[in-house]
Amino acid sequence: MPFFEPGLPEIVARNVQEGRLTFSQDLPTAVRSSQVVFITVGTPPKKDGSADTSSIFAVAAEVARNIQKYALVVQKSTAPVGTARAVARTMKRYMKRGATYDVASNPEFLREGSAIETFMRPDRVVIGVESSRGEAILRKIHNPLFLLETPMVVTNLETAELIKYASNTFLATKVSFINEVANVCEELGADVQVVAKAMGMDRRIGPKFLHAGPGYGGSCFPKDTLALASFARAAGTRTRIVEATIEANENQMKRMVDKICASIGKPRGKRVAVLGLSFKPNTDDLREAPALTIVAGLRRRGVEVRVFDPVAMPNARKVLRGVEFAEDLYEAARGADALAIVTEWNEFRGLDLKRLRRLMRKPVLCDLRNIYRPEEVRAAGLAYVGVGRGEPRAKRDG
Ligand code: UDX
Repeated sequence: MPFFEPGLPEIVARNVQEGRLTFSQDLPTAVRSSQVVFITVGTPPKKDGSADTSSIFAVAAEVARNIQKYALVVQKSTAPVGTARAVARTMKRYMKRGATYDVASNPEFLREGSAIETFMRPDRVVIGVESSRGEAILRKIHNPLFLLETPMVVTNLETAELIKYASNTFLATKVSFINEVANVCEELGADVQVVAKAMGMDRRIGPKFLHAGPGYGGSCFPKDTLALASFARAAGTRTRIVEATIEANENQMKRMVDKICASIGKPRGKRVAVLGLSFKPNTDDLREAPALTIVAGLRRRGVEVRVFDPVAMPNARKVLRGVEFAEDLYEAARGADALAIVTEWNEFRGLDLKRLRRLMRKPVLCDLRNIYRPEEVRAAGLAYVGVGRGEPRAKRDG
């Protein structure tokens, strides 16, 4: 596998072995022998935040040239609203006479680290398709999910495309919202963990994506929020809440740098251990990972940084400059003035706190994912800094 995803190597190996899955670089032959073609290419953000969709159209043209009789082309890459219809126009231009096609949009809602589970048991399947032939084919492909009573939303191309952006952007907004509430908690002496828990008990709100932390990262939320704001503006309307979500996320990462620096006194020459680099656990993906921004912020203030991640170290070596790469988490902590947990890997949930206290120059735990109970950490002799866990007023005032 070119990336880390639990369970995927086994599934790919099994299906290759049983002859259901093959790989090829021969596009013409692959298209000629297929009734359905999924386009699943990368759409990286351009400098202005909009998605670069050039690969989608390059593939669409190539596919169109090679359709003999009929093919259903399913646009699955995350791309702005209007892309699927533009794909149809491109195809029309390159089609051979006599060949026909349908275009559909079938956005994916996979979560990295639990991709297989989210694929096998999705909350819903969204299909944008405007011909009954195309719809019938896509329904048939998804039949195993239909048998599990997975809801299926069949709609037009633009609606399907927007569902993906609206969903991801809403989740990102939920994260930014609770992060801002966490900041209020810090100022006013409330505990965001309890606030979020009680909020989540209201079924209209729900408990998920209400964990305060260092900000969201990854290949979707940062890119999709920017893209929605950008194509909304281009269409002459604004999405102010989404714009605020993006700004709040940037502030949150900066705030984490301030928080760590405040815990070590004068930052220049101090040493900080950063545990967890991937944008979330169970992936080696560093795209838009808060850890990268936080490490860069610490470096700018003259802090020496030593990093450790259970799986993302090889990727980290490619993108992080001016830091030390530790062999394990305790080595990272040796001589440090603070230890910051940036990603909540399971490995970091059961740290030997007493050992850390002995190893560190100044025993401070900056738990940016709130995975520890402050009392437990303090009892082991370390200072505790969380996110949104304000000291009650009575305690602060003595
Ligand atoms: C997301 C969507 O969940 C998925 O449906 C879509 O297909 C792709 O984008 P993914 O990027 O894999 O999936 O990660 P996700 O688990 O959603 O987390 C995104 C970011 O938000 C991570 O950096 C995570 O740490 C952060 N997050 C999430 C929080 O800070 N708090 C939360 O409560 C939840």
